[in-house]
Amino acid sequence: MSLYRTARPLLFRLPPETAHAWGHAGLRAIQRTPLLSRVAARYTVADERLQTTAFGQSFPNPVGVAAGFDKNAEIPRALAALGFGFVEVGGVTAEPQAGNPRPRMFRLAEDEGLINRMGLNNDGAAVVGTRLAETPVDVPVGVNIAKSEHVDPADAPDDYRRAYHAVADGADFFVVNISCPNSQGFEALQNRESMAAILGDLVDAGAGPLLVKLSPDLPDPAVDDALSIVEEFDLDGIVATNTTTDRPVSLRSPNRVETGGLSGAPIESSATGMVRYVAQRTDVPVIGVGGVSTAEDAYRKIRAGASLVQLYTGLIYRGPSVAREINRGLLKLLDRDGFDSVADAIGVDL
Ligand SMILES: Cc1cc2nc3c(=O)[nH]c(=O)nc-3n(C[C@H](O)[C@H](O)[C@H](O)COP(=O)(O)O)c2cc1C
Repeated sequence: MSLYRTARPLLFRLPPETAHAWGHAGLRAIQRTPLLSRVAARYTVADERLQTTAFGQSFPNPVGVAAGFDKNAEIPRALAALGFGFVEVGGVTAEPQAGNPRPRMFRLAEDEGLINRMGLNNDGAAVVGTRLAETPVDVPVGVNIAKSEHVDPADAPDDYRRAYHAVADGADFFVVNISCPNSQGFEALQNRESMAAILGDLVDAGAGPLLVKLSPDLPDPAVDDALSIVEEFDLDGIVATNTTTDRPVSLRSPNRVETGGLSGAPIESSATGMVRYVAQRTDVPVIGVGGVSTAEDAYRKIRAGASLVQLYTGLIYRGPSVAREINRGLLKLLDRDGFDSVADAIGVDL
């Protein structure tokens, strides 16, 4: 039995945000010591069949950390040492903000899910930008950029541009988050006009590679609008998906009544459906996210058209070896199905 499976019941007795802070502190400590290379040796699956390229970046493997886990870019090197092929830090906003009152993160243990209403708590783009510029990381690092809570949706383009400029030098790609269900005014950003204003401004500011992160709650016509904007502005990719405000009837945990965005196993299949929908209608790379915690989950998203996958909730339930287990499992699945590399499996189910 892995150490994490022994430790998990103890960690799960703590409030989720406290457990997360402990895990974070442990990874921050490791990042500062020579232990980091020992961790990397233990968790990295180095195999050229896992290597892939997307939007001009080379990824050692397709399994990344989703936005929200390292909001302030404090542990990207430790996450790379755990075997992740890339890290998306943030969401960051132009100014620091405290987020919503606690508690704001809830485990749905019976469902292997989480509900969060963090509200984009972060140190602000200037601090995160400096941190990133001072931290060389072995894998590509993306920054997730979001709208500041107090900013009116009409002023969002300027707010996103300010945040972008503050982090521009430290990142390998940028993800525009217009799909946060836990902060005010985000619904108003997901119409054609707003998306065009925000993304057009960022393109003019020279942001790139530039990706947009979509909500799974968008009706198909709104997704189609987003896709036409991706084409119009020649954006570099799409991240599908963010958390959902939907509550599948299958949920068993009493915490299902909490307000916020649902993530983890309960959204795996709907997020894969959105990856497929998007990949069928665009040529840009898609990062598939939502409920990935095993190799089979990752493989389904890749076969549905994802060039890369990401996870957050899977780390909470499966622990620090999750990327290693997924990468090892992916190699077996590729072998089983006769693919020479991950790249050969992308979109085969479309
Ligand atoms: C506590 C928490 C905080 C998150 N914060 C952000 C964020 O700041 N920006 C963002 O785009 N997504 C954020 N997400 C969404 C994740 O990046 C991801 O899209 C979602 O959780 C689905 O993936 P998962 O099922 O692997 O967790 C957050 C998720 C969680 C659970």
